[in-house]
This record gives sequence, structure tokens and C-alpha cells, in this order.
Amino acid sequence: MCGIVGAIGVNNPREYVIEGLKNLEYRGYDSAGVGFLNKKIKIYKDVGSPSHLDEILPKNITSDVIISHTRWATHGVPSKKNSHPHLSMNKKISLVHNGLIDNYIDLRNFLISKGYTFYSQTDTEVIGNLLEYYYLQNNDMLVALDKTKANIKGSYACAIINEDYPDTLFMMRKTSPLLVGKGKGFNLIASDASPMVKYTNEFIELDDYEYGYITKYDIKVFNRNNELVDKAVTIKDLESYSHDLNGYPHYMLKEIEEIDTVIKKLVTAYYQDNEYQFNKDLLNDLKESDHIIFLGCGTSYHASLVGGRLFENFNNISTTKYIASEWAFHPTFPGVRPFVVLISQSGETADLIHCQKIIKKKGFRTLLITNTPGSTLSRGATYTLLIHAGVEVSVASTKAYAAQVALLSLLSGAINNDKKVLNDLKDTIRVIEYIKNELKDKIKGIAEEIKDHENIFYLGRSFDYFLSMEASLKLKEVSYIHSEAIPGGELKHGPIALVNEGLPVIVFITDPTTANSMRSNIEEVKSRGAKVYTISTKDLSKDEDSLVVDNYAYYLSGVAVSSIAFYLAYYVSLAKGYNVDKPRNLAKSVTVE
Ligand code: M6R
Repeated sequence: MCGIVGAIGVNNPREYVIEGLKNLEYRGYDSAGVGFLNKKIKIYKDVGSPSHLDEILPKNITSDVIISHTRWATHGVPSKKNSHPHLSMNKKISLVHNGLIDNYIDLRNFLISKGYTFYSQTDTEVIGNLLEYYYLQNNDMLVALDKTKANIKGSYACAIINEDYPDTLFMMRKTSPLLVGKGKGFNLIASDASPMVKYTNEFIELDDYEYGYITKYDIKVFNRNNELVDKAVTIKDLESYSHDLNGYPHYMLKEIEEIDTVIKKLVTAYYQDNEYQFNKDLLNDLKESDHIIFLGCGTSYHASLVGGRLFENFNNISTTKYIASEWAFHPTFPGVRPFVVLISQSGETADLIHCQKIIKKKGFRTLLITNTPGSTLSRGATYTLLIHAGVEVSVASTKAYAAQVALLSLLSGAINNDKKVLNDLKDTIRVIEYIKNELKDKIKGIAEEIKDHENIFYLGRSFDYFLSMEASLKLKEVSYIHSEAIPGGELKHGPIALVNEGLPVIVFITDPTTANSMRSNIEEVKSRGAKVYTISTKDLSKDEDSLVVDNYAYYLSGVAVSSIAFYLAYYVSLAKGYNVDKPRNLAKSVTVE
């Protein structure tokens, strides 16, 4: 979603913001803009990419204080007027914003009644004008920030400049992420660390309702009671935020090809000296709980389906698995001692932040499974487990999914101190390497055959069904082909009506207990004209299967053969000429509900 990059006192502000915005492109965007102070506030913005912004921006910017933004449209179409930064009516204040202001219509009407005029369709313009309205009452920007915060409802991360404060960059935050990068003789601000890691490794994360300012030499943060807060500094290293393609043409391909390394790293992180390395209190909480609620969105929800089934089958713990945005509005806490597992690659997903607030109010304990240490969700969780996948830039999540599933299987093993999973994971690594080295051409061939179809079915049962759901989402995201994942047993209860001549049906058969039933499903769709592509394991395979891999433990499909699904989506997208790393309408970090 929207990305914020700002700085004060940095040597080359132009280069910093353009490079910084490019680093945030992975979040998704439709327009970009820059604002800076040169006696008056100057703004350059347009629909399009940070590279386009680079073309329209003056070559020399000497300003000390600068803010910039990539917008992902919510209120108002992508247009120059709706792009950020926005300027207040009297041109005193300019700001960039990530988030959604729920009561912007009321505030807009209030400001109109005070003589304000609006030029955009955005909710953000309301914040700028409200800040200015309060600022003009007493010429104190901190008071204006406090009053504005008190009146806006919703989510916001804002970087703000005021014509009367040439040496100050203001900020405020609720729900949407905002980080300060601590420099020497300069300070930085951004939505995540990636634009700043070239300049500093010291970071301060703003918490909800915090606001304040940075100057070249100072960082001041206040809490919602206007008390000065002594913020902890965290260290983040350049390597873990590297956006280097390492010779790959796309991040998606690079990230798929990293899956085997990620799984090895994960096993080493959580199993050392013949012992599982999970926090003992976490394991006790899981064992003592009589019900575990899994929450996630998109790919992370698909991982939570696997996690729930593992805990039920192997740990005998009852679970429910919910899409976070569904649960948030009708939350339920089954059992007497429920425990909640939240799964989020980014750790910043607004739907989950909403859930976390509900859970905290109830006082239940939570585990976050994430790729992002120090993220908003991590700071709110009782426990955090990292998936150690390294930065995932491509909007379509791949290695993070495989790592989430692998971590859940290790955790399930650790609860019973059952070490079988370690060998099972070793088998999956061999399978992943085989797919990478031997099967890509075949997968590319299937991609060529299916690329022009409007509809595609994925079939599987149990763990293969969960993988089918993920495979189907991935294909949709990057190829814009409509696809459905159907549990084999459900076919005849409705979806089979859609099967017609030539419909591509991709079938996963990797589970001995469901293999026979899946073979019957294949016959059902074939006899109605479908073109079937079967992915199977050696012992369950038939000669006509499209892709056959070595045997592995059936419950690890999401680790072992998810790369087949990812390569397939990747090659279809490429064959159709799409921007595989930045699919239309999607954002990497979904920071609005
Ligand atoms: O960062 P999160 O794991 O919380 O993100 C959840 C979804 O937005 C995400 O998985 C989305 O579905 C991806 N684009 C999938 O490829």
C-alpha cells in the first residue's frame, strides 16, 4: 500500500527519496510525489512510477526537509490531484499519508463550514486542512498535531512539513507503520526500513497515537498523553533488506529459487544440539490451551489452514482457522483457554492488527508467525516466531508461504517433542531441489498450454487442497486468469457443472489416503472433456502424470511442491507479458482494512 519516504539534513535529498520510493514500489502504487521546503512548499507529483517522478522532478533540490510518497488509491481515482503530497488550503502545510480516515466526510463538512475548499477526492486532504486549521489558531504545530489526532478516526502514518518550520519534519502514527532512521547530522522517516538501510542501521518504531518531529540532530516522540517518550533504538542490517536481484530477471523467480535455502535455515534456527529451540513458555501455552484460533489473510490464511490441520491431527488440539477480516467483525473464542496464532509475512496487515486489538482487550495470549521482526503485529504479540525467509519483494508471496508451513510443522513437532518432522523436512528439500533443477522446462510447457484459458481448476484433498488454494491464488494474482481450488470431494456437489471441453484442471496427488479418490475425480473431469495435469509422488504416480516427484510426507505438500505451483503462475504471467513482480491492483503490505 502507500509508501512514505522523508528526510531532514540528508546530503542528496533527491536521490534519497527517488531511490527510497523505488525500494517501496513492491508495496504497490499508482502514483508518486515529492514535497520539499524552499522558502515555500514545492510539490511535484503525478500518476505513474517513481521513475516517472524522477523525470519531472527538478535536477537540483537543495532543500533540507523533504517528504515523498507512492500512492495506492483508496479514496479517489489515481490522478495527479489525488496524489500525495497534499497541500493545505492556505499552503502552510503539506503531508503524505498512509492509511484511511474513517470520519473524513464529517471532518470535510466541518472544515467547509469554516471556509475551507477541497481540491481532491482523498481523505488525506482533510488531515492537512485540519492541521492547518488548528495551527492557525495558536501557531504551535505540536498542539495542532495533538488536536488533529484527537479528531481523526481511522489509520494513519503521516510525514508533514510546515512552511514556518524549515528545520523540522513532523510525524504521527496510528495503525499504519512508520519508522524513524537515526543518522548523524540527519534523520530519516519511512514506512519500512528498506529506503533507509543504506544510510543508517539504527531505527525507532513509532507506536499507535505517537507523534513528534525530527530535525537534523534530534528526534522527539510524544505519546497520546503528550508525554515525551524515551524510544528504544533497534538495529536492522542492510543485508536483510537487500533488494538485490542477484542476476535473476524477477524477484518472484529469485524468491521461488530460495525456498530450499530458506527451509534449511529455518530448521537450523529452530533445531540445534538435538533439541527444538522454541520458547518453553510458548510450548506450554500451546499445550495448555484447549482451543487454538488461527488467523491470517491471503497466502498466510492458506498457511494457517495447514497449521490448524497439523495441530488437530498430530497434537490433538482443537482449532478454528479464520480469514482475519471475517473473524474481526464477529470474533469468537471457543474453549475455556483459547490461544491465538496470527500469521503475517509483513507483520503489518491492517485486518490482523484489528484482530490483535480485539484479542488483547480479551486478555488472551498470541503467537505471531512473521518474516518481519519489530513489525507492528510483532510488538503487539505475546510471542513472535520468525520464518527467516529474508526480504520478500515480489507482491506474490512464495518463499514466505513455504517457510510458514515448514515452521508450523516444526512447531507441531516440538509440542509433542516428535522429531520425525526433521527427516520429513529433509526429504522436502530434495524434492524442492529436484523441481528447481529438473522440472522447470516441463512446468513452462504447461504454462504455455494453459495461458490463454479464461478459467482453470485446481483439485486436491486435505493438505493437497490447502496447497491448491494457494496455487490458485498465486495464478490469479500474477496471470489474471480466473481459477478455483476445489476439494476433490466437493466437485460433484456443484463445481463439476463448470467443467467443459478443454478446461485445464491441475490435480495434486501426494497423499496416499486420498490418492484413489483423487484418481476418481480425474476420471470425472476427463470424461467431461477437461485437460488434466497431474502432479504426483512416485509411489502414487501413473504413467500419464505430468509431473512426478520423489515421495515425501503428505502433510508437507505446502513445502515440498508449492514451488511447482509458484513456477507455473510465474511462467504463465511471463508468457502473457505481465509485470510479474507488481501485479495490477495489489500491494505487498496491506496496511488498510
Ligand atoms: O503480510 P501478510 O502475510 O499478512 O499478507 C497477507 C496477504 O495480503 C498476502 O498473503 C497476499 O495474499 C499475497 N499477495 C499473496 O501472494
